[in-house]
Amino acid sequence: MPAMDATMNDPVRELYSERRYPDLSHPVTDISRLWVSARVAGLGRLAEPSHCRVLEFGCAAGQNLLPMAERYPQSDFTGLDFSDTAIRKARQASYEAQLQNVRFEAADLEHWRPSHPCDYLIVHGIFSWVPDSVKTRVLDLCGQVLSDNGVVCISYNTLPGWSLRRDLVPLVKALAGNPVAAGLGDTVESVAASLAEMAGGTTAHTANVQAICRDMMRKGPTVLPFDDFAPVCDAVYFTEFAKWAAERGLRYLGEARLQDNLPDGISPEAYHKLAPLAADPVLLQQTLDLLSGRTHRNSLFCRVDAAMEEGVTTAVVMHFAAGPGPVELPPVDNPVVSLFRQLVADASPSCVPVQALMERTAERLGGGWEPAVHSRELAKWIYQAARLGGIELRAEPLSIRGQTMPTPRLSPLNLHFAGQGRPVVDARHFPCRYPDGHQGLMAKMDGTLSYEDLAEQAHADFPELDFHRWVAHLAERGIVL
Ligand SMILES: C[S@@+](CC[C@H](N)C(=O)[O-])C[C@H]1O[C@@H](n2cnc3c(N)ncnc32)[C@H](O)[C@@H]1O
Repeated sequence: MPAMDATMNDPVRELYSERRYPDLSHPVTDISRLWVSARVAGLGRLAEPSHCRVLEFGCAAGQNLLPMAERYPQSDFTGLDFSDTAIRKARQASYEAQLQNVRFEAADLEHWRPSHPCDYLIVHGIFSWVPDSVKTRVLDLCGQVLSDNGVVCISYNTLPGWSLRRDLVPLVKALAGNPVAAGLGDTVESVAASLAEMAGGTTAHTANVQAICRDMMRKGPTVLPFDDFAPVCDAVYFTEFAKWAAERGLRYLGEARLQDNLPDGISPEAYHKLAPLAADPVLLQQTLDLLSGRTHRNSLFCRVDAAMEEGVTTAVVMHFAAGPGPVELPPVDNPVVSLFRQLVADASPSCVPVQALMERTAERLGGGWEPAVHSRELAKWIYQAARLGGIELRAEPLSIRGQTMPTPRLSPLNLHFAGQGRPVVDARHFPCRYPDGHQGLMAKMDGTLSYEDLAEQAHADFPELDFHRWVAHLAERGIVL
């Protein structure tokens, strides 16, 4: 790692004291999914989300940690951040939602000392955005704070994919508001828009420039100053990152999202050719980064001496709960798998234990069900489908009623978020922001007002809002309970 530059710490501190970091929850760090991803990678004794200790570095105002603390009342959650303002906001939310199992510490990671081990360590949006001295400290802490069979989920920008973006950033900055570049735009977003248009996208390079500029436009002024245009925004080769982790006694397990283990744009034939590289997972991953142009990772590491077990057996897959994933998979020519898929779709938006889904499949098939053969076949398919994004796997079932109740109600935490104008967080840990007035309406959904009363108020205050459709959407996402 390059020599540390102490003065670099100030611009980062300055940024977080001067500007408000947006409230974001990150589904990729949801411990229900992390448990599955670590489990299939062989970390067999990782504590289940329902009874575990979770630590988050750089937790900001707790938008990521608090919903998990509310979901798992028997688990302990600790969030750490050097922004006093963010920590005060996080504490206020935990107080309002009466959460007894979460605490927030205002501390600088550079000087903080862990007092107890954790089973899940979440380090999202930190590593690439802090000075080298803090990077070193973060990695040291990852090596020190994990329990024997714990897991860390850490995000960072990766090379060579990030390199073009790294080169674009100073150029976009130099052009923004520059009199000699008049017409390209006064802000970095407007310059990105001009470049996206001019790039045209007819060659691989210009398409890449265009995609990066469009991504900058999508992130916009609320996110860009903390991301691409942050005072520190580095990238690293995976081989280098894995080496630093290994020096701290950490072993690479895989990516936090199962589907990120097979990055987009690489054909099944290429994967087949690369299969022998499985003997050197770090080299395989670096090759995949080169081929796919991946720009970002959310990687899982455990202690090198953690107890490893066989990852993907039928018994292991039976432990999970399954629901439909974000990717539509093509039909399969296998009646058992087709029936199973139909049952998953029927249960949507809920996630159901794989065991129960298999039992239902067996019931429907009657005499055609061969337990040993079909359960193995289905377990294999479920795992493959999850890696392709066609199935979502979680540690525990997710029960979403999906229909609206006579007195719609939000969880105490979402009620607080809605009242504060913060995004609410859905049952799958996605942040959901609605127009301010609509948020205010949600803040009234505390279970005391009837559906009809709320509909009447909505009609009076927001005649343009299709209240019935909106509440159905909130119920479908598990926001309205
Ligand atoms: C880019 S934000 C990411 C927030 C959140 N983890 C996320 O991904 O949405 C970085 C956070 O790390 C905090 N941070 C940066 N350097 C820190 C340090 N040395 N010690 C503690 N917190 C730090 C900032 O205050 C900020 O809340």
